[in-house]
Amino acid sequence: MSFWEVATVAGKTYYITTPIYYVNDVPHIGHAYTTIAADVAARFKRLAGYDTFFLTGTDEHGINVERVAQRNAVTPQAWTDRIAADFRRLWETLNISHDDFIRTTEPRHERVAAGLFQRLYDQGDIYLGKYEGWYCASCESFYLESELGPDHTCPVHTGRKTEWTSEESYLFRLSKYQEWWLRYVEEHPSAIEPEARRNEVVSFVRSGLRDLSVSRSTFTWGVPVPFDRRHVIYVWIDALTNYISALGYPDGERYARFWPATVHLVGKEIVRFHAVYWPILLHAAGIPVPQQTFAHGWLTFGGQKFSKSLGNVIDPAALAREIAGEAGVDTAIAVDAIRYFLLREIPFGSDGDFNKPGLVHRFNADLANDYGNLLNRTLPQVERHFDGVVPSPDPTAGGVGGLRQTAAEVVDSLDDAISRLDFTRALGEIWRLLGAANKYLDEEAPWRTVKTDRRRAGTALANTVEALRVATIALSPWLPTAAQRVWDQLGIPTPLGVQRLEDARRGPFPPGTRVRPGAPIFPRIETKVATTDTVEAKPVGETISIEEFRRLDIRVAEVLEAKRVPNTDKLIEATIDLGDEVRTIITGLIPQYTPEELVGKRIIVLANLAPRRVRGVDSHGMLLAAEWEGQVALLTVEKGAPKGARIT
Ligand code: MSP
Repeated sequence: MSFWEVATVAGKTYYITTPIYYVNDVPHIGHAYTTIAADVAARFKRLAGYDTFFLTGTDEHGINVERVAQRNAVTPQAWTDRIAADFRRLWETLNISHDDFIRTTEPRHERVAAGLFQRLYDQGDIYLGKYEGWYCASCESFYLESELGPDHTCPVHTGRKTEWTSEESYLFRLSKYQEWWLRYVEEHPSAIEPEARRNEVVSFVRSGLRDLSVSRSTFTWGVPVPFDRRHVIYVWIDALTNYISALGYPDGERYARFWPATVHLVGKEIVRFHAVYWPILLHAAGIPVPQQTFAHGWLTFGGQKFSKSLGNVIDPAALAREIAGEAGVDTAIAVDAIRYFLLREIPFGSDGDFNKPGLVHRFNADLANDYGNLLNRTLPQVERHFDGVVPSPDPTAGGVGGLRQTAAEVVDSLDDAISRLDFTRALGEIWRLLGAANKYLDEEAPWRTVKTDRRRAGTALANTVEALRVATIALSPWLPTAAQRVWDQLGIPTPLGVQRLEDARRGPFPPGTRVRPGAPIFPRIETKVATTDTVEAKPVGETISIEEFRRLDIRVAEVLEAKRVPNTDKLIEATIDLGDEVRTIITGLIPQYTPEELVGKRIIVLANLAPRRVRGVDSHGMLLAAEWEGQVALLTVEKGAPKGARIT
């Protein structure tokens, strides 16, 4: 094998999946959380030399999708095509490196789902019966009366009423496998992590499994039951099958190579489906069961669940643009910061709150300061005192022993941490190395010693860039864009993309490398803090809460074109660019502004104002301006904030 070929270690495979997301809603930061975690794990395992496969996709059948398509007056297929494309676009923005994207409306999937169903029917594990129970359409799940909230509401979707459903249905003999399952989990406790989730499902199963309704006959948007076309396969059975259909079950090369899955990564609300129903279905069909289901916690926003009615659903792409605007970086770097923050701040497995000040703090303290600044105070020294060429370290120069030892320990600890999906521990370890390197540099102070002991100063710089090299390889799964840029500044000719964790262990930094110091990769985000001695807070009339304010989507936009609306005195029709979307708004700015004057201006727009029809033209949003004594002045923004940047 040539040096450039990507090495994988024989026999080490890693197959990780995300849930396939429902297409009845737009993608949000909750979906991004799971997908980013899976991406970091997959990138890390590739780095560690595992033969890796990373699957995500969309769950496109079921009554909910049928209903939402109806409400939007499109066919379910047209609807799912649209939302699946939104998911793909978001994953591209977030730098997700999935190997496949499965959609349950694809023939390659439907074939496998129907085949599995037929097999379970043929062997007598599926039979025709009747199912009655409380059904939550959002969960696509039946619940026992004892599990419901007040007024028969769903235990997962607070306040949402379940529907009493009674219909002819095919049932799967779940109860028959109860004892097998309990024994299996006792023998393989790591099949469900974390432990709290395992205990939950174990007590659910101990309380007695009822046979599971596995078909529906009151709607048609699903995979038809192959032997009874009046029914479609229950969406969860259909959906779970994606994990093998995407591998080309039963005879695909990928199936032979990657099944059983190493880990199904899911949110804690769908553990039962993955850790109980899915292994039982597989076992019944004689298919090996996955090694693990890992359930992470729920993200909240300001302590509340995300919900459309609260107006706090965060679009990760918009968030990335907003941070990019504030930090003066491009979106890809802001994406790295979000990827880092989500997995650093919240211990994986626990619930956690997403908050912007926390993100800004991590950006400044960890990324700008500990990592970015280490680079920015090392490379210019190499440039100034050593003509930009990294000197050879001198082992007798002293001081470095601890740093090398730390680097080796850190690298050695990472694979185990990621195997347990303990991202916080892995990042904590990498920060231990960065902390040690910062301390080493402070103590060695090469900027001083260079005048008296050039060899020692050169050694200190060489050892610090070596620590940066190791940390950068290790951080690349979290920060794919930033790590590449640091790598470019370090000047190492071998591309980062072909580095393996093994290479991180092999020092020293190649002497003779010409560094290429550049602009800070993570410039600090300066937040404006109102000082109490100059600003006196006086409530004016009615106040609104911060949540209400957050419902306003106010953004920077650029005016592309502007013309007078015919037969009006004041109105201008302006075409504006919001960064990800071009729209038309109507605004009454004449005579204070002419249409020509507006073109090219960065303006501020209330983007989520309900569209209004003005003089036969739809206006989507409102331009903000100050008005006083008959004068009008447009609001604009400093620091060249880009189109799409949010006003918060
Ligand atoms: N379609 C099913 C899954 C079928 S898998 C065979 C489904 N889809 S979903 O669109 O509702 O996605 C649920 C998943 O999205 C959660 O399990 C979790 O991974 C992620 N999250 C959605 N909202 C979330 C939070 N608020 N916080 C954390 N994760 C969240 O269920």
